[in-house]
Amino acid sequence: MVGAAAAAWRLVRGMRQLELHRLILVLIFFCLLSMACLAYYVSNSPKIKEAPPVPFSDCSGPVGGGGGASTEGGPGGQRAPLFLPPRNGRLRTVKAIDTSGTEAVVLVFVESIYSQLGQEIVAILESSRFRYRTEIAPGKGDMPALTLHNRGRYALVIYENLLKYVNLDAWNRDLLDKYCTAYSVGVIGFFKANENSLHSAQLKGFPLFLHSHLALRDYRLNPAAPLLYVTRPNQVEQGPLPGDDWTVFQSNHSTYEPVLLASAKSSNAPSGPRGLHSTVIQDLGLLDGIQRVLFGNNLNYWLHKLIFVDAIAYLTGRRLSLTLERHILVDVDDIFVGKEGTRMKVSDVEGVEALLSSQKKLRVLVPNFTFNLGFSGKFYHTGTDEEDEGDDMLLKHRQDLWWFPHMWSHMQPHLFHNVTVLAEQMRLNMVFAQEHGIPTDMGYAVAPHHSGVYPVHSQLYEAWKSVWAIQVTSTEEYPHLRPARYRRGFIHSGVQVLPRQTCGLFTHTIFYHEYPGGNKELDKSIRGGELFLTVLLNPISIFMTHLSNYGNDRLGLYTFESLVRFVQCWTNLRLQTLPPIQLAEKYFQIFPQERDPLWQNPCHDKRHKDIWSKEKTCDRLPKFLVIGPQKTGTSALHSFLSLHPAITSSFPSPVTFEEIQFFSGPNYDQGIDCTDFMFEKSANYFDTELVPKRAAALLPRAKILALLINPADRAYSWYQHQRAHRDPAALNNTFHTVVTAGPRAPRDVLALQRRCLRPGTYVAHLERWLQHYQPSQIHVVDGSLLRSNPALVMEAIQRFLGITPTFNYTQALV
Ligand SMILES: *[C@@H]1O[C@H](CO)[C@@H](O)[C@H](O)[C@H]1NC(C)=O
Ligand SMILES: *[C@@H]1O[C@H](CO)[C@@H](O)[C@H](O)[C@H]1NC(C)=O
Ligand SMILES: *[C@@H]1O[C@H](CO)[C@@H](O)[C@H](O)[C@H]1NC(C)=O
Ligand SMILES: *[C@@H]1O[C@H](CO)[C@@H](O)[C@H](O)[C@H]1NC(C)=O
Ligand SMILES: *[C@@H]1O[C@H](CO)[C@@H](O)[C@H](O)[C@H]1NC(C)=O
Repeated sequence: MVGAAAAAWRLVRGMRQLELHRLILVLIFFCLLSMACLAYYVSNSPKIKEAPPVPFSDCSGPVGGGGGASTEGGPGGQRAPLFLPPRNGRLRTVKAIDTSGTEAVVLVFVESIYSQLGQEIVAILESSRFRYRTEIAPGKGDMPALTLHNRGRYALVIYENLLKYVNLDAWNRDLLDKYCTAYSVGVIGFFKANENSLHSAQLKGFPLFLHSHLALRDYRLNPAAPLLYVTRPNQVEQGPLPGDDWTVFQSNHSTYEPVLLASAKSSNAPSGPRGLHSTVIQDLGLLDGIQRVLFGNNLNYWLHKLIFVDAIAYLTGRRLSLTLERHILVDVDDIFVGKEGTRMKVSDVEGVEALLSSQKKLRVLVPNFTFNLGFSGKFYHTGTDEEDEGDDMLLKHRQDLWWFPHMWSHMQPHLFHNVTVLAEQMRLNMVFAQEHGIPTDMGYAVAPHHSGVYPVHSQLYEAWKSVWAIQVTSTEEYPHLRPARYRRGFIHSGVQVLPRQTCGLFTHTIFYHEYPGGNKELDKSIRGGELFLTVLLNPISIFMTHLSNYGNDRLGLYTFESLVRFVQCWTNLRLQTLPPIQLAEKYFQIFPQERDPLWQNPCHDKRHKDIWSKEKTCDRLPKFLVIGPQKTGTSALHSFLSLHPAITSSFPSPVTFEEIQFFSGPNYDQGIDCTDFMFEKSANYFDTELVPKRAAALLPRAKILALLINPADRAYSWYQHQRAHRDPAALNNTFHTVVTAGPRAPRDVLALQRRCLRPGTYVAHLERWLQHYQPSQIHVVDGSLLRSNPALVMEAIQRFLGITPTFNYTQALV
């Protein structure tokens, strides 16, 4: 019994032990499984996501995951092309526009300097680099002068408020009309209804009726409107238009041609053919010889911006217009640099709808489209295993892509003061490229965080050229990051610096549904918003994106495929891609005026200060300038100033004899690193075109000293100066002969005459300085008083400059 019981017990215990074993094994198994699951999810996707978005595939907006755009226009987004019935046989001859008798400047009448529409008009002109002048539209007051020496000052007139134009008093209106007809100048006007506007009214003096406060839908273009150029007609923007304060134009006069048409949401207004209302019309000038484009709203709606750009082009006979060519280059920065979990995997490189297939698709629409990859070799293979395979997949397809170097370790170049050390870093990346067969001959590079490109760190330029033979770079920082419409290019030390645009994608924007502000923001930017306008207004756009935009949701691919699609739906623009060196060549052909840089003070912009070498200070920039002109006593002034113990002047330069001529000489091209003085005197600054602009850009707070004497004395003094320097023209001719010489006199005599007389037209030169400096910053010194009572004058100058401690000039100059 006992034996049996003991045996039974042993059996049970054995089984229990076995179970315990099993249990432990099962437990271990589960632990491992869950760890594996966890590892899988942690490394692969931070969160489980909705499906990535599908790029626009036709002209109706995002499909599938998109869901953000106005596709409410019924099933399938039917876009029956609209052809208006021909205006029954009327033959209209429109006068050709020839504005060659005018300056290519736009005159904009705004409501106030703060008015929103006025600012939007100006923003488009600024982005387009068109010259313009704004005037507050006077209620009844006077026109600004419209002509100068029989030339028109303006090629186009824009009224922010159309009513200010039609309600001009008869005298001024007559003046403006005569100007417009004589110089073939057109008018653009906006009518934005407010709560006081009538529902229906005739536009004063025109056979044109306005109906306001309407809600509209289904916007379409009239293919017969002559102004269409960039805009591609035959598209319909389905769905309601934003707002219910639209104004439409109605007329039965053949001078008016609708440009944009819409249907009323409810039929509360008289309408044109097929129930359509014109919200933008073109006046062909058949009535009074003046061509106009009138908008029944402001520029908020994207299509109005597009039409506005075409209207400017049309009314100026394409003088203020780009061609239809647009170049885009998409940089993919931070290759190998991205954080784990955000990098590209094999499927992101060569999968369906991935980088390479997207590039192939884009090439059909954008000839030679190629993604331009910027790499930092140090971080190669620092992702998860899958991402490391993605790195290798990129390298496998290296010949299908373009490549450019970042810094080896993604360090900011301005932190290196020593060129040798900087070049050493670059060489590491070069060796990496050679080892992995990455092409190294593109001549293009980008600096991490724009560091060293602008403000210029000359060490970076030197190292780039010596290691990589860099000829082209791009930055968002010149002259400043914001607003983007001011970004420009320049050439420094043989390296062409192009402006760079952003497309709203940053390292952290990796999910469509988590786009900052909602995915509608991204779609809006593409569908006529900021991104679309960037392409519309810039002949060359280099976009910055990052590696992380091409993993996960591949937002980069979505963005550019959709953008290209949208541009091709609505415009006649011809997109293409060029390698950076050819792109830069093209850029400076289009904008030759941007070749010379305009240096600014790095300490006046926080971002610039952050990427400005700590070993360089802004204190070394001049605090004041003595600008001349020549022969008025500037040398004496210079030596009196130098007596002051608190003033150190520019070092005498052996080249220009005591004058550095920073702003007018070759030193300027070297950059601002070589300025190291408190004040500068250059007697020829006074009458040069370029110097006030350059000086004001770098030294906006500087004080300016101009020393003037009787201009006749100055002219004679210059003549004597030239005789002393044995100038043949001065030796062979009397002063009287020189200053009275007529236009047929010998050239050297005329040149001498110019140098005698031109600097003496003090008003013209001071006016130019006053365009850049406040009157309170400019001190005009009486040169004859300086001679007779130097202490008195110097005391005044000392007070003007606010220099402490004060120096007793009375004591020093007796
Ligand atoms: C155009 O409209 C005006 C006013 O509505 C009318 O007096 C005129 O007869 C019309 N002209 C034509 C050609 O229809
Ligand atoms: C595309 O590139 C090839 C060679 O790089 C060139 O021959 C061709 O002209 C380019 N096509 C266009 C449309 O620019
Ligand atoms: C730059 O660094 C190298 C190596 O550290 C050193 O030999 C050289 O003297 C440095 N050059 C300057 C200008 O400081
Ligand atoms: C001016 O004078 C120099 C000598 O003083 C003479 O060689 C030269 O031919 C003269 N030139 C003219 C244009 O008279
Ligand atoms: C400067 O020096 C003169 C002569 O030495 C003296 O009369 C005058 O008081 C001094 N001025 C000041 C402000 O010290």
